[in-house]
Amino acid sequence: MEFSISSGSPEKQRSACVVVGVFEPRKLSVAGEIIDHVSGRYLSELIRRGDMEGKLGSTLLVPRVPGILADRVLLVGLGKERDFRENEYQKAVAGAVRTLNETGAFDASIFLTDLPVKKRELRWRIRIAVMAARAALYRFDLMKSKHDDVRRPLRKLTFSVSRRGELADGELALKQGLAIAEGTNLAKTLGNLPANVCTPGYLAQQAAELATSHQLKLEVLERADMEKLGMGAFLSVARGAQEPPKFIVLEYRRGAQSGKPVVLIGKGITFDTGGISLKPAADMDEMKFDMSGAASVLGTVKAVAELELPIDLVALIPTTENMPGSMATRPGDVVTTLSGQTVEILNTDAEGRLILCDALTYAERFDPDCVVDIATLTGACVIALGDVACGLMANDEGLAKELIAAGSMAHDRAWQLPLWDDYHEQLKSNFADMANVGGRGAGPITAACFLSKFAGKHRWAHLDIAGVAWRGGKEKGSTGRPVPLLTHFLLDRAGVL
Ligand code: BES
Ligand code: MN
Ligand code: ZN
Repeated sequence: MEFSISSGSPEKQRSACVVVGVFEPRKLSVAGEIIDHVSGRYLSELIRRGDMEGKLGSTLLVPRVPGILADRVLLVGLGKERDFRENEYQKAVAGAVRTLNETGAFDASIFLTDLPVKKRELRWRIRIAVMAARAALYRFDLMKSKHDDVRRPLRKLTFSVSRRGELADGELALKQGLAIAEGTNLAKTLGNLPANVCTPGYLAQQAAELATSHQLKLEVLERADMEKLGMGAFLSVARGAQEPPKFIVLEYRRGAQSGKPVVLIGKGITFDTGGISLKPAADMDEMKFDMSGAASVLGTVKAVAELELPIDLVALIPTTENMPGSMATRPGDVVTTLSGQTVEILNTDAEGRLILCDALTYAERFDPDCVVDIATLTGACVIALGDVACGLMANDEGLAKELIAAGSMAHDRAWQLPLWDDYHEQLKSNFADMANVGGRGAGPITAACFLSKFAGKHRWAHLDIAGVAWRGGKEKGSTGRPVPLLTHFLLDRAGVL
């Protein structure tokens, strides 16, 4: 699919379809008004007859509108004008693109990017529209023997800006939106692939492909390397797995001055059975998504590399399966982490923090500006925040604020939970420096407390994405979140947001 920006007026578009909005009840958007005017009130007549009320998500394809150059007009319902905000904007664009993809149009000019979204400037509207459009067109059929290959003619989408003076801004935002969508799609596909395909080795291969295509430095540590280093926590999770674990280190270095990188750490459990603390059978298939943190880190690196952002970024991905078996870690086992601290493993299903803690220690060798880990860490976070926001915990308020702002900007939101000392009580162990679980209360927080003991002195934040990384049920599939949040965070740091 080709995307472009244009400042032409709606009645002069020579495309197969012009897309304009209708607010509820029955009020055309500015571009809609222009077409209505040149067509002798053709659109308002339709609307007056009740063919399009303006309900959010509804669409009406109108062929042969007089007085315009395009073959048809697609009316898109926007809901009530005073309720029109980020969610509604995103839904309107996605709905339009989905309908276009089914109509047989070859190309379309979309006049939704000039709609007013409170406090959101043009670059935001273009970036989000491009991301929403790409998301609406995403399909995952890699594992089907017959691809859902109904031939779709839609080839080209053009987004409008109101004035020629806005073209440059529009182009920049288009490029950013496309890169973020590209990164998000990579994360989605890695998430959607089954665990018998998307193994730790497969993730390492994906990292290698990124390294080759974008000239990044790559190192992949094998089990023996990790033993030498003393990553006892990570290895305790990998013990039950036949599939070789990997520790992926991917470096993107384009920063101008300091060389202090942002380090992103992604949880890469390619399948989480729970280990000896075995999970119940229902919906266990969804534990193939337990590498979504890793996938989002790879997706973010891809977006950043494609945009050639002038920053230093290091990606660390500890990746393994969490399997039961005669060699697997037992509840009660005590292991020594890379940091030297010991952990009593009371529940082998709390494995995410065990692989992340060694990665956090490993991150120190890069003398990071800050470290952000991303993990499908706790079911309790799903209970707390659902699929709307991911959980955010940090040892630095400035970093937390940056991430919250990036999430809001990307419409990929994070919500902060407290990391007070009081919660550390719950991790006390009679047999080691700490236990790996903290009981029933405050699950996401005690998990973060555990991680904080390995964050060292640098600024660190943790994103618990258990609720947002994938959807279950009929629409089961990876969302690619939080690639948009992470990329916005880095765009902002690069000064190009
Ligand atoms: N990967 C899971 C977390 C998870 C569970 C994410 C369900 C999404 C849906 C994680 O490894 C896990 O099993 N966490 C345990 C921690 C507990 C044993 C303290 C959990 O949440 O039950
Ligand atoms: Mn688990
Ligand atoms: Zn897990």
